Amino acid sequence: MKLSRILSNQNGISRRQANLLLAAGRVRIDGEICQDGGLDISRFREVCIDLEVIQRAEPAYYLMLNKPAGYLSATEDPVHPTVLDLIEPALRHHLHIGGRLDRASTGLLILSSDGLWTRRLTEPRVKIPKVYRVTTAYPICPDTADRFAEGIWFNYEQLRTSPARLEQLGSNEARLTIYEGRYHQVKRMFHAVGNRVISLHRERMGDLLLDPTLSFGGYRPLTAAEISSVN
Ligand code: URA
Repeated sequence: MKLSRILSNQNGISRRQANLLLAAGRVRIDGEICQDGGLDISRFREVCIDLEVIQRAEPAYYLMLNKPAGYLSATEDPVHPTVLDLIEPALRHHLHIGGRLDRASTGLLILSSDGLWTRRLTEPRVKIPKVYRVTTAYPICPDTADRFAEGIWFNYEQLRTSPARLEQLGSNEARLTIYEGRYHQVKRMFHAVGNRVISLHRERMGDLLLDPTLSFGGYRPLTAAEISSVN
């Protein structure tokens, strides 16, 4: 919500008075004077007029999980276990998923209570690189890297995927970087070149790297630097 709106939502403060308070430097966001009423302020930040707190900061959660195979990237499901079943109960109802993985896929999954932040992480316009380690059923053809770099035509969406980078690691193994997150994107790209994905493990999203100390099903809070790398 815009800061001027937060201020004028308080009983007895008019729009004009809110502007005067801002101009006089009497409004603080997380302790810092702020004079820009047009700023978007999330519910995770504290707003004060002088010493009076008029918006208390809600706790924000930012977690990385090493997703095991067999768990759905969903908050609830009548049949399959979901990734939220891996998270301590007190946190579960605050969280949503920032960039899903298929049930069989493993690796880096981000969970947060901050919707604006996860939107920045997953916004297709921003083109954050997502890095996957892929094992395939058949040897990867020599022209696959060029075909992925040119983009693969997706008939259903009537679009060509953004140029992707394939680094071959073995005859049936590669590291693939894509810059969008379409439905079953990696599987469909390999299918389009006559191959089939056997296993898919996400190693990275932008500057967020899967912590190698996390075993499957393990999770940890993101550091302040990791949180602010998504902007
Ligand atoms: N692409 C896929 O096909 N599956 C995933 O889980 C992630 C990307």
